[in-house]
Amino acid sequence: MAREPFVLAIASHKGGTGRTTAACALAWLWGQAGIRVALADVDPVRAARLIATEGGDCPWDNVRYFDRLPDTDSGAELVVVDCPSLMDPTIDRVLRNCHSVVLTCVADPLSLRTVPSAARVLATARVSNPRLELLGVLIGLYNSLDVIQAPMLGKLRQMHGDLLINPPIPYDPEIRDWAAFEPAAKAGYEAMIAALDRLTTPVTELRRHTSTAEAAPTPRPVPTPA
Ligand SMILES: Nc1ncnc2c1ncn2[C@@H]1O[C@H](COP(=O)(O)OP(=O)(O)O)[C@@H](O)[C@H]1O
Ligand SMILES: [Mg+2]
Repeated sequence: MAREPFVLAIASHKGGTGRTTAACALAWLWGQAGIRVALADVDPVRAARLIATEGGDCPWDNVRYFDRLPDTDSGAELVVVDCPSLMDPTIDRVLRNCHSVVLTCVADPLSLRTVPSAARVLATARVSNPRLELLGVLIGLYNSLDVIQAPMLGKLRQMHGDLLINPPIPYDPEIRDWAAFEPAAKAGYEAMIAALDRLTTPVTELRRHTSTAEAAPTPRPVPTPA
């Protein structure tokens, strides 16, 4: 019988934090690594479709595109979910079907509020889905030369400790260009995959997961709202 896939949500309070880019980059990289991936484009904006398909199927190795959460018998080992905003009324239904979440944010002052607010949504979602685990907080589009972003990275690190995934994803103009997306994504997100492996759930070792019950990791605490 097919195993239930591991479902990883890429989520954020607001848009523009690199959520879709992260979901696509991770789906592509894990597909390259030989994992059967479903990219679930659950955000009604359907931005992932623009990156991962040319109107038809996804051409990436081992990656299938879905405009919804796939059925558990889709054949995927890993589902990467490009979520709608965590403020969207449909989010609870999405999170109910997820095992883990990566929260994306940018290194700006608003994130001092949006990440705790996102964490509150996750805490609510845990009521109906206690297995939901926060894997980490990912900073996207990071420019170390920006006078605001560098100190904000320090603050976010202080607030979230080892929940902050290091290193942040660097701002890289190439990643905005579809022709350059794959090499740029590789450069930016390989470190993130290594970082995720250091966290409690080694995502690249999915094949070792035999069932959700056995695979269920100890939930990591959500960040304390400020
Ligand atoms: N690391 C990055 N470097 C440069 N541009 C990026 C990076 N990540 C995302 N972008 C660009 O920023 C914009 C917002 O990213 P996107 O992934 O769509 O965010 P979200 O899904 O959170 O709204 C897009 O134009 C995208 O191409
Ligand atoms: Mg998006």
